[in-house]
Amino acid sequence: MEIEELKRAAGHRAADFVMPGMVVGLGSGTTARYATLRIGQRLHEGTLRDIVGIPTSRQTCRLAREEGIPLTTLEEEVHIDVTIDGADEVDPHLDLIKGLGGFLLREKIVASVTEKEIIVVDDSKLVPTLGSKAPVPVEIVRFGWRCTRTAVERTGAETELRLREERPYMTDEGNYIIDCHYDEISSPKELASTLNNIPGVVENGLFLGLAHVMVVASPSGIEIIER
Ligand code: A5P
Repeated sequence: MEIEELKRAAGHRAADFVMPGMVVGLGSGTTARYATLRIGQRLHEGTLRDIVGIPTSRQTCRLAREEGIPLTTLEEEVHIDVTIDGADEVDPHLDLIKGLGGFLLREKIVASVTEKEIIVVDDSKLVPTLGSKAPVPVEIVRFGWRCTRTAVERTGAETELRLREERPYMTDEGNYIIDCHYDEISSPKELASTLNNIPGVVENGLFLGLAHVMVVASPSGIEIIER
């Protein structure tokens, strides 16, 4: 089965969790995109109504508008019923690495006020321990970024400033991202807190204890895993 089919299957299944009247966090990335598309489709079909979405990126905001999904912001709503988002790695405790798409900051803020955070992945994202395949993206402010990067390297990481078209990639909040490769992450909790204590670090891509439901698509079908 093509990976794209698995992403679509996971996204579509997750959209079934959205009920009329809900405030819905709309994730970013290629898998969450399918959930947003399916939510739009359900609104058009009339199998869903009275929802408002909160996008986690400008990209998702544009997509949701195109699909006719009514939108609001976290200035208007401080509680989100359900968010559907993707992940780059998922460990057996349902802890995650997110942010390879570049939207980790808004995604983490949205996840932190979400009652039911649903993560949509294909089974290639399942790992025994975080950091097995993906780097940990760390969003940093531009001012003094080289000093921040040096401080981040003291946590044991090999770092790369993320580039797009040979220029530093800039997040929706106007920050840079450094991708941090670790040989081993023995304590994700300790690492997350150490990273966030470094001046200049805005947020890191370790999403710990934030996911409630995992929708995993594999060639043998969809599995729903609840925390
Ligand atoms: C965006 O910043 C990310 O957190 C994505 O949710 C994550 O990278 C997964 O994206 P894909 O579904 O495109 O793999």
